[in-house]
Amino acid sequence: MPEAPIIELSGADLAYGRRTVVHGLDLAVAEGASVALIGESGSGKSTAARAALGLLRPVGGEVRYRGTALDRLDAAGRRAYRAAVQPVFQDGPETLDPRQRVGSAVAEGLGVPRAQRARAVAGLLADVGLDPALADRRPHELSGGQRQRVGIARALAAEPRLLVLDEPTSALDVTVQARILDLLERLRAERGLAMLLITHNLAVVDRLCDDAVVLEAGRVVERGPARRVLDAPAHPYTARLRAAVPELGGALPGTAPALGA
Ligand SMILES: Nc1ncnc2c1ncn2[C@@H]1O[C@H](COP(=O)(O)OP(=O)(O)OP(=O)(O)O)[C@@H](O)[C@H]1O
Ligand SMILES: [Mg+2]
Repeated sequence: MPEAPIIELSGADLAYGRRTVVHGLDLAVAEGASVALIGESGSGKSTAARAALGLLRPVGGEVRYRGTALDRLDAAGRRAYRAAVQPVFQDGPETLDPRQRVGSAVAEGLGVPRAQRARAVAGLLADVGLDPALADRRPHELSGGQRQRVGIARALAAEPRLLVLDEPTSALDVTVQARILDLLERLRAERGLAMLLITHNLAVVDRLCDDAVVLEAGRVVERGPARRVLDAPAHPYTARLRAAVPELGGALPGTAPALGA
């Protein structure tokens, strides 16, 4: 039997109160894979991410971690799942505690003894391209790009196998975006990290993802290899989405000047 995906949503119906906003979603991310979740505002992308992170329980279907439904994981399984699947959110006020210093925010996810923390934090900050001296700063003393790197370092502290990234670069200006994408690409290459990446930017999908899943109003309308979905969208909705992205607008994906910066 092939290895179970790290995370798998299977026929997942996702709801807020009595309103179901995602219908029968099938979505799997295998070890080392990188899957894009695309769709216009309100289509249910963040909702799907919340379900993958165990923050929202499906009202129908299942979310499985390495083949076991989340609500059937035992205590050890839950611990493993919580460490292995880590969120990276858009840089925003809700992401980092404004009062907490960078070092302790990053240290929270670390499984190492207290005495080794400062060193481990410095290592993680260096891994994401930050000066370890920034550990003493508070979030408002950093740029948006630096804060997003802190968010990534914090996720890495738990030694995850899968990052669930919800618009990780959309709050950043384009040159900073490009550098964060470089970082994510490097983490993929060096650590074999799997990614579930939510973005409105199809150029990001082209660069970082193997597969793409397109949601419209809570339903999958297209899926397949990212390159195929971007180059020859089968669904009119995806074609519209593609046309609406200035970076791609007719040009070949991946040649967008913003990403070459
Ligand atoms: N906490 C919530 N309570 C109630 N309804 C919600 C909640 N969060 C999202 N929704 C609704 O669920 C639907 C899907 O929202 P979701 O946030 O998943 O969309 P999205 O694809 O992430 O959009 P965006 O691109 O704007 O981030 C929308 O109709 C939204 O209004
Ligand atoms: Mg969202």
